Amino acid sequence: MTSNAHASGRRAVKAVIPAAGLATRFLPATKAVPKELLPVVDRPVLQYIVEEAAAAGLTDVLLVTGRGKTSMVDHFDRRPDVEDRLEKKGDLERLAAVRRTSELADIYTVRQGEALGLGHAVGTAAAHVGDQPFAVLLGDEFVELDKPLLPAMIDLQARTGGIVLALGEVKPEETSRYGIASVEPSDLADDAVEVTGLVEKPAPDEAPSNLAVLGRYILPASIFEAIATTKPGSGGEIQLTDAMAQLLADGVPVHAIVYRGHRYDTGMPLGYLQTVVMLAAARDDLGEEFRSWLAEFVAGGAKG
Ligand code: UTP
Repeated sequence: MTSNAHASGRRAVKAVIPAAGLATRFLPATKAVPKELLPVVDRPVLQYIVEEAAAAGLTDVLLVTGRGKTSMVDHFDRRPDVEDRLEKKGDLERLAAVRRTSELADIYTVRQGEALGLGHAVGTAAAHVGDQPFAVLLGDEFVELDKPLLPAMIDLQARTGGIVLALGEVKPEETSRYGIASVEPSDLADDAVEVTGLVEKPAPDEAPSNLAVLGRYILPASIFEAIATTKPGSGGEIQLTDAMAQLLADGVPVHAIVYRGHRYDTGMPLGYLQTVVMLAAARDDLGEEFRSWLAEFVAGGAKG
C-alpha cells in the first residue's frame, strides 16, 4: 500500500495532552501536585506545552486529566480578582502574563478514570477528536519555542495521512531508557525518515539506532480503533506504541521528523532541574543576574 492511499490532505488542528499519569518518578512531590503544574521559573510546565501547541496553530486543546488533576484546568481560566488587583497596582506586565494564559487556546477536558496507560489515555479523546488527524503532546516535555517541531510534523502528516513521530538522538548507552526506532531514509521533507519498527527500551547492543521517540505524535483517527483492540502490554498498561505497531502492520505509513533542537524533559527531578536552570538563564528579565550567581556558585564548589 502506498503512502498516498492514506493521504487525507487534512491537517491536524486539535491537540490532545495526556496528563493523567501517576508521575511515580517524581514522588513525593506529585502526591498532591500534578507534575504538569510544577513551575519552570514562573509558569507551569503545562503552559509551555500549550504554548508550543498554540504556536503551531493547534488552539483546540484537550487535556486528559484524572483524579487530583483538575487544578491543571484552572490555570487556563480567567482570574478577574487577581487581574483586578494587578490593574489597581499598575503591574501591567504581570497582568498581561496572567491574562495570556486564558487566551492561549480553547481548553477542553476529558477524564481518564484510571491510569491504564498512555494508549488508554489517548483513547479517551476519541469523541472530541472525531475523524480528523490530531496531535498528541505528552504533558511533561517540551521543545525550544524558537526551534519548533510540530509544524514540520503536521505538514508531513497531511501529506502521508499516516503516523508521524518525532525522534531525537540519544547517547548510545542511554537507549534502554527510551522507545527506539529503526528507520530508513525518506525524501518527503527535511529531517524526515521512514519508521520501519519500534523497540521499547532496548539494551545498547540490541538498539536498531540511537533515535529515541519523543513525546510528540501526529496520529490519524484510525488509531482509536487500534487502541480499542489493544490488549494491556508492558506494565499491564494499554500502550500507545502497541496500537501504533498495529497500524504499521496494517500498512499505515509511519514517518518521523528528527528533531535537532533541545528537548526539555521535566518528568523526573534531574531533567526538571536542568530545564529550570536553562530557561532561567535564558530569560531577558532575570537571566543575567541568575547566570552570574550560577557561575559564582559553581566556581565556589557548588556547595551552597
Ligand atoms: P509517563 O510514562 O511519563 O508516566 O507517561 P507517568 O505516570 O506520567 O510518570 P511515571 O513514569 O510514573 O513517573 C507519559 C504521559 O502519558 C500520560 C502521563 O500523564 C504523561 O504525560 N499518561 C500516562 C496518562 O495520561 N495516563 C496514563 O494512564 C499513563
